[in-house]
Amino acid sequence: MTPTEIRAPAISWRIENLGEVSSTSDIALERARLGEPEGLVIRAESQTKGRGRLGRSWLSPPGYGLYFSTLLRPPLPGDQLAVLSLVCALAIAEGLEETGGIPARLKWPNDIRLGEKKVGGILLDFESSGAAKPAVIVGFGLNLKSPPDGYPDEFASRTTSMEAAGCRLPQSEEILHTLLNRLRLRYQDFIESGFKPLRERWESHSDGIGRRFSFSIADAPLEGIMRGIDEAGRLILDTGEGNLHSVDTGEIIES
Ligand code: BTN
Repeated sequence: MTPTEIRAPAISWRIENLGEVSSTSDIALERARLGEPEGLVIRAESQTKGRGRLGRSWLSPPGYGLYFSTLLRPPLPGDQLAVLSLVCALAIAEGLEETGGIPARLKWPNDIRLGEKKVGGILLDFESSGAAKPAVIVGFGLNLKSPPDGYPDEFASRTTSMEAAGCRLPQSEEILHTLLNRLRLRYQDFIESGFKPLRERWESHSDGIGRRFSFSIADAPLEGIMRGIDEAGRLILDTGEGNLHSVDTGEIIES
């Protein structure tokens, strides 16, 4: 940092603990529309309409998971905001390692994994009304224990919980605080210096580099080897003969 650069003030979290809600992200979005400043955390015991990426739902029964959404207002241009999901995933992986004692891995763009299975995910929503700076709602879902009836069939073989993966399982309060502390640090790094210095950290937590994947983007399937991510957080896919593609959307299908 040069002497003229100013450190961004660290964010202070204001946590609101709720019982059963529809979706913590929907509540945070509503508050953003009303002009709520950044730092709000909506955390719920359970969700009746938990939302996941790609229009999926997120199973959110009471007692089995941690469900919370943070309201951020990053002072950055809109085209730099999507990469925030990778910043947040990195923070959660680091926080999980700290609290659970097991190395967490990242699957692009923002799945958090223990071993080969997903233990948590992140959902970004954007809201541009209500205040000068647009809001980004970052919703976090983390599986603490596997529910007695298991996970929905289509995900069961690819999903785990901290307990099932053999993690130390502290009180959810303690996990939440560890994750929010880590998020505060990584968010501050991102605001001050962008994604560039975090990219290597993200890659060192990735379990996909060097592996072959296929993608379904629009109707065009794309297959290749993941070489890493670029400074905008796009996945770099090597489709052979020196052809590198930047992928900025979609979901990895392992081949
Ligand atoms: C994913 O599909 O991987 C993202 C899942 C995000 C789920 C969390 S739970 C808390 C917050 N509220 C929601 O409705 N979704 C997110």
